[in-house]
Amino acid sequence: MDSPPSPLAPPAPLFSSGKGKGKAPSDPLDRSSTDDNLPWVEKYRPVSLDDVVSHKDIISTIEKFIEQNRLPHLLLYGPPGTGKTSTILAVARRIYGPEYRKQILELNASDDRGIDVVREQIKNFAEMRTLYSKGFKLIILDEADMMTTAAQSALRRVIEQYTRNVRFCIICNYVNKIIPAIQSRCTRFRFSPLPQKEVQKRVTQVVEAEHVNLTEDGKQALLKLSKGDMRRALNILQACHAAYERVDETAIYNCTGNPHPSDIETIVNSMMNDEFSTSYQKVSQMKTEKGLALQDLIAGAYEYLESLELPPQTRVYLLDHLATTEHRLSTGGNEKVQLTALLGAIKNGVELAAH
Ligand SMILES: Nc1ncnc2c1ncn2[C@@H]1O[C@H](COP(=O)(O)OP(=O)(O)OP(=O)(O)O)[C@@H](O)[C@H]1O
Ligand SMILES: [Mg+2]
Repeated sequence: MDSPPSPLAPPAPLFSSGKGKGKAPSDPLDRSSTDDNLPWVEKYRPVSLDDVVSHKDIISTIEKFIEQNRLPHLLLYGPPGTGKTSTILAVARRIYGPEYRKQILELNASDDRGIDVVREQIKNFAEMRTLYSKGFKLIILDEADMMTTAAQSALRRVIEQYTRNVRFCIICNYVNKIIPAIQSRCTRFRFSPLPQKEVQKRVTQVVEAEHVNLTEDGKQALLKLSKGDMRRALNILQACHAAYERVDETAIYNCTGNPHPSDIETIVNSMMNDEFSTSYQKVSQMKTEKGLALQDLIAGAYEYLESLELPPQTRVYLLDHLATTEHRLSTGGNEKVQLTALLGAIKNGVELAAH
């Protein structure tokens, strides 16, 4: 039998009408002033699917599924802050309209999702018939990589049993933590880190809406530090805006506690060129003054080394030692000892390059 005429609601308006706000819904970033106390990540969370930046292929595919009323079970995965939760909430809004919360069951890592919950809560919700049922209901299992294997196994049968009137959307960061049986029941979409261009577009809109005084070098630093994570970009921007009149490169690095690239440059250059004890003193002094952690210093040095011209052998030698030191630190190594060891390794590396 063919599916009945689409029971799906038309695309939901961006803002529920009738509140007399009289704001043009055409500007997706025109948030009302009542949202002022919200963190920007929530305030600027995409409302509609069009509002989600990047991932155009994924969005248009999902749109097609919705139009044809053939939404499969979904598995959305990818690194944090790339729009997975936002996308599925926009999908729910698109299907059910502004009252979508009544039609979905959203469980995330903060809810108990042991085997009993899968059996009870999900089954109850799936079996419950609502008055304004739109054909199928949506169960969102956010952060599903934290679910136990037993709970995931229990889900297998539940998914099949209720496919008639329930669609599952499973969201996670690490897809390999989802058992294969569940993966094969879902259509998978990977949310890759957002390209800098896309983050920049969104950041620019927020900067205008919030009147942030963001300088060009500040913007570049922000994009670099956010590494394709829109949540991080917005959080850093908000924190810096609160702390500084003018958000420039230095403000961004200070605010996030990341070492400034020019400090890294000074440190690495000193390690390479100065005499051992002079360099050690200089670096330790800078570390204390600026509150730098050796871990951040290593991350910065790694990036800086990429921009240096070095013989391949030396590069490999230095990278190897950076990696080893980082590993030792992560297992509880002493910062002072590791700093001297690293300094020694860099000295050896430089000597290697001289031959
Ligand atoms: N593609 C995007 N377009 C627009 N805003 C985005 C996008 N991705 C993330 N954001 C912003 O970042 C915030 C967090 O996004 P979201 O909750 O969707 O991330 P997530 O992928 O679910 O991350 P996590 O894996 O940590 O749960 C949103 O509130 C939104 O402001
Ligand atoms: Mg999420």
